[in-house]
Amino acid sequence: MVHSLFGDGVHFYNVAHRGFSAAAPENTMSAFEKGIKAGANMLEMDVMLTSDGQVIVFHDYRLGRTTNGAGLVNRLPASHIRSLDAGIWFDQKYREEKVPLLDEVLELAKGRVRLNIEMKHRRHDGAASLVERCIRVVERHHMSDEVIFSSFNLETLRLLHYSKPHLRFAPLYRHNLNPTPRSFPLQYGAQGVVLNHLFLNRTVVRQLHNLGLRVFVYTVNGLRRIEKMIGMGVDGVISDNPALVKSVAGQILG
Ligand code: G3P
Ligand code: MG
Repeated sequence: MVHSLFGDGVHFYNVAHRGFSAAAPENTMSAFEKGIKAGANMLEMDVMLTSDGQVIVFHDYRLGRTTNGAGLVNRLPASHIRSLDAGIWFDQKYREEKVPLLDEVLELAKGRVRLNIEMKHRRHDGAASLVERCIRVVERHHMSDEVIFSSFNLETLRLLHYSKPHLRFAPLYRHNLNPTPRSFPLQYGAQGVVLNHLFLNRTVVRQLHNLGLRVFVYTVNGLRRIEKMIGMGVDGVISDNPALVKSVAGQILG
């Protein structure tokens, strides 16, 4: 078995994807609070930089889908983005939910759950400042040991690793077979990989475990798929529905 990720004996992570995003608007304080209450022991969130260099918790590069605003996140200041409604698109009862700052989510999670911070940036040259500012915020909260970073962009993770080698990170892959991704995580000392559940099988999980890499899978929402992933021995299931993952994990893992 691979060592416990945070050295606390926890071997399975029920990861609330953008918070409990099946029950509340994604990447909002309500979704994160509900994720914790539903039994998640890790929250996944997407972070990006505003035009004035604030780290906000938001998924799309454009504001339109999940707020009442429009335009590109990286071209607008935090004051504008935070004046928008990030909840009403989901349900009237979430009206006036704001786009959170990374600061606020760290505060909410501290001492309660671990965090998976997924760094996203649109412009190629945005990586260095995003990495630097994420590190600054996490260190300000003294939460370096409560966080695992991830990104689809390997260069971003390389920058993170060079800057702070002790920080945990796991690269994200969209298609993870042929060959199984291993050279980057092994070369840079990643704690694991985050794989698309559609391309996973038991052999791949075993191979990665034998290399000392933990296997997280995204985004797993169906009951049967959750059962299958946990049955394969993955170390974390990233789901929009952490309540369902909790009940399945309880049955399979005890
Ligand atoms: O953590 C996995 C997942 O969050 C990656 O895809 O688009 O939901 O950020 P996305
Ligand atoms: Mg994500």
